[in-house]
Amino acid sequence: MRQFNVQIADHAQKYLDVEVPDLADHICDPPSADLGDLSLPCFLLAKALAEAPTATAERLAGKTWDIPWVESVSPAGPYLNFKFQADKFSRQALAQVLDQTEVWGSSEVGQGITVLVEYSSPNIAKHLAVHHMRSTMLGQSITNLLRCAGFSVTSWNHLGDWGTTFGKLLAAWELFKERDDLDSPALEERTDAISDLNSLYVAFNEATKENPELEDIARKWFKKLEDGDPQARARWERIRNVSLARFNLVYDRLGVHFDRVIGESHYQQGMVDVVEQLTESGLLELSEGAEIVRLSDDIPPMLIRKQDGATLYSTRDLASAIERYHQVAFQRCLYVVDAGQGLHFRQLFEVLKMLGYDWADDLEHTEFGIMRLNIEGNWKKGKTRGGQVVLLEEVLDQAVELAANIVKEKNPDLPDQELDEISEAVGVGAVVFSDMKAARRKDVNFDLDKILSFDGETGPYLQYTHVRFCSILRKAQEQGIETGDGSRLDQPSEIILLKRVLRFPDVILRAARDAEPSQVSQYLLELASEFNTYYAKHRIISEDLQLSGDRLALIEVLRSTMKSGLDLLCIRPIERM
Ligand code: ARG
Repeated sequence: MRQFNVQIADHAQKYLDVEVPDLADHICDPPSADLGDLSLPCFLLAKALAEAPTATAERLAGKTWDIPWVESVSPAGPYLNFKFQADKFSRQALAQVLDQTEVWGSSEVGQGITVLVEYSSPNIAKHLAVHHMRSTMLGQSITNLLRCAGFSVTSWNHLGDWGTTFGKLLAAWELFKERDDLDSPALEERTDAISDLNSLYVAFNEATKENPELEDIARKWFKKLEDGDPQARARWERIRNVSLARFNLVYDRLGVHFDRVIGESHYQQGMVDVVEQLTESGLLELSEGAEIVRLSDDIPPMLIRKQDGATLYSTRDLASAIERYHQVAFQRCLYVVDAGQGLHFRQLFEVLKMLGYDWADDLEHTEFGIMRLNIEGNWKKGKTRGGQVVLLEEVLDQAVELAANIVKEKNPDLPDQELDEISEAVGVGAVVFSDMKAARRKDVNFDLDKILSFDGETGPYLQYTHVRFCSILRKAQEQGIETGDGSRLDQPSEIILLKRVLRFPDVILRAARDAEPSQVSQYLLELASEFNTYYAKHRIISEDLQLSGDRLALIEVLRSTMKSGLDLLCIRPIERM
């Protein structure tokens, strides 16, 4: 809609001989379509002219507006409402979308600006649990949005592959052979190596309760690992590889890709360097045997090294931030991590600032709320009563199974392979959309039954709307109807739909700027609902071939908007169902 808004804003400024920056951004819809198709609030213009906004609106209404697609203007208090010349507006609107050779909605606003987006970042030797979905999908969608707006993005997975956990695992590998020997069958050959690793880890922790010296053995193993002992290193690498292979299966299903997968293990040297810098700049302080950096009064100090000299998650994040900047030279770096880690990131950013890194101001904690699951009737944070985490793969599988039942019911004649593909897209799409629908900072209640409904505010509802667009277009093609230029699109509901379509690029820009995929979700829901209202009242294909052609053009732009939108949200825009 930008181009239309800008034209109105330019004319208004010219008629009044005054300049108001960004006036076009204030143009909005009138409260009801009877009043007009667009509305110019006159407050800023009036302020610049030192007069009452109602007077400005009256004066503007008295001008002869020479914009071809404006039919009439009328003042309404401090607003000036515009009624469109429907045929001209529709034709111009359609051309604008259909002429774009790039993906509809994309722009080059971010050209020359580099953004690093870190997301997912799970710990290895564990399955991806359902709560990992938030960071993973928000991060991927934010990456897609930024790219669509022309930013150059490096997507980054900060794998949790270092720390005392691995000392325990390596100790268990050696000591618990009788229970489960990870060499026979070899880790790589197992159907579920991750669960086996996890049971061994749990068993080890259990055993430490009775036998505290196991802790010491675990510490020694971690030390061996840090010192590069070949056996420890080789086993750790195998654990890392099987974990990554399993993560990748899930990432593939979800449409998630990373430019860099760099584990915490990578920062051995970086940590030495950063501790040295902290020491040199006099920031490192000894406190009860540990090394800390004291921060401003309202934040507790950041712990850099424990009493035993072991480095920490936070030390690795310091080293990682510095390396990220060296590798990527970003203008903006987002950490898509749950809000619970807010303090950690405040400490991290502050210490980097104290070290004199200007770019520390460009780091953002892109925080999000928790995801709760309905477990035996209660909303829980992703754990069953027995304390088991709910695995992401399991949730996806369940959703796909439920989707298959629904799709089969709707379309019993689908061949098996197509049924499988569609159910996968719908089931996974439903789960992903439920994550993208709510504003990022809000907590999400995840309810498998609700998210699969085809007539709620769900992923399947949007996919189904896309399928409807596709099948209308297919039918028209079979009948040999050609798309028109849109001159006959004069129904108020058609103007509303076209205005909605034209706002898509701006929605993407805002969503990218705010790192807020929910803005796209909400936009698509509105688009679908406006279309479905329209579709209930109007036939697309009729005996009037010219009108049919024009309406088909509308369907075509709706389809490409819905497709781009779903792609941005990592939801597969299927064409049949
Ligand atoms: N691996 C961490 C966890 O599972 C998340 C890492 C977040 N990213 C970071 N740079 N600290 O809690």
